[in-house]
Amino acid sequence: MTDISRCPIHEINPMLPQNLVDPWLMNKRLRDEAPVFQDPNSGIFFISRYADVVAMATDPQTFSSVMPGANTRGVNADDPELAAIMADAYPNVPTMLTQDPPLQRRYRKFVDGAFAPRNLKKLEPYIEQISNELIDDFADAGRCEFLEAFGIPLPLNVIASQIGTPLADLGLLRRWTEAFIGNLSQQLDKEGIREAARGMVEFQKYFVERMEERRANPTDDILSMVVNASIDGEKPIDNAEGLSMLSQILVAGNETTAASLTEGIWLLIQNPDQYEILRNDLTAERISDFVEEVLRYSSPSSNMFRRATRDVTLHGVTIPENAICFARFASANQDEAQFEDAQRFDITRTNLKEHVAFGKGIHHCLGAALARREMNIGFKVVFERLENFRLADGAEPPQFSPNALLHGLTGLDVAFDVIR
Ligand code: HEM
Repeated sequence: MTDISRCPIHEINPMLPQNLVDPWLMNKRLRDEAPVFQDPNSGIFFISRYADVVAMATDPQTFSSVMPGANTRGVNADDPELAAIMADAYPNVPTMLTQDPPLQRRYRKFVDGAFAPRNLKKLEPYIEQISNELIDDFADAGRCEFLEAFGIPLPLNVIASQIGTPLADLGLLRRWTEAFIGNLSQQLDKEGIREAARGMVEFQKYFVERMEERRANPTDDILSMVVNASIDGEKPIDNAEGLSMLSQILVAGNETTAASLTEGIWLLIQNPDQYEILRNDLTAERISDFVEEVLRYSSPSSNMFRRATRDVTLHGVTIPENAICFARFASANQDEAQFEDAQRFDITRTNLKEHVAFGKGIHHCLGAALARREMNIGFKVVFERLENFRLADGAEPPQFSPNALLHGLTGLDVAFDVIR
């Protein structure tokens, strides 16, 4: 294991599992000593300071979200078995997250309505109902694995209802989300890559059928919005475009919110003084402050790709045209230049909302308002019914999973007391 506090900065390998799991000290060193750092192994440029990440995210002309080779079936020429799995797959076409303006905006417009305040307001009673039902299932036991019992099922139920898939298919949606996440992790071996590919092909078959159904009988769900949209009123969305949008909504919406919900509980266990402030003041304002600080601190969407469209020199380092860069949202959120005592979890910060956990600029998270509602309502129900969260007897401190783009706990075994 490399000792991050001592090793020469150029020897840091940010993609090592140990550094993906526990990136905080490495991030601090990169911000202080190498704010533009080229990883010698992957060739990726890591941009770690708040001001630079914001500048990148708000300059899509220079930092594009379209990746070369993304418009492929992901076939690896070295693996005929993978090629066979992907033979009938739809190509991975760039849409919202993976597209640049003006097309990016057009795709987003098709689904923006689903996340508009009027629609989200209607969803609030459902979020509260699901939160209560989930707690009903585990409260009597006095303990649970919080990620599995609450963190994952809350956003999964909500997004399934929004997309328009039957509740009976939640298990499938979950399996496919995991396949996409596994693929993003860049940590899979050959068989893992094949397994993820099988999941993605299954996802495509399932959703192409659902899209056909909505073309014939539209309703008011996201599936109907997607398939009945057309670019400039001319070209209807095709299956590959629809699948790209749906996969983004599913992956971006599930894993991230689940991670922040779960890490929120872990942060309170680790910071009893902050738990005390919250417990004594369960108002909507205080819960909202807690949610924003959890978002800043957990930053589950930790890194996002960009491609330099021209040579750019930043802090004396030239990033050549077409180089791949990481906009490091999680590192930006711990930048001392922006957040005083940034490593401290503090729900009373005055600049809570300056975090970039949802990104910035044109790609600012489509689901930010939904995720905020899920977290505000979900946590409110949790804290009104359960208190005194602590690690369950015999449980080890939780671990984060190694993933290049997403940062989240693998699980959280907690005990609690029941209020009602
Ligand atoms: C705590 C929860 C969430 C976090 C931390 C988060 C984080 C982010 C971030 C950082 C970006 C910007 C990516 C970039 O600049 O390249 C983004 C974009 C996006 N998010 Fe979220 N997200 C969350 C929840 C959701 C939800 C619930 C949805 C479901 C609708 C969603 C859908 C999207 C989509 C589709 C984009 C791409 C938007 C575009 O490029 O125009 N996210 N999210």
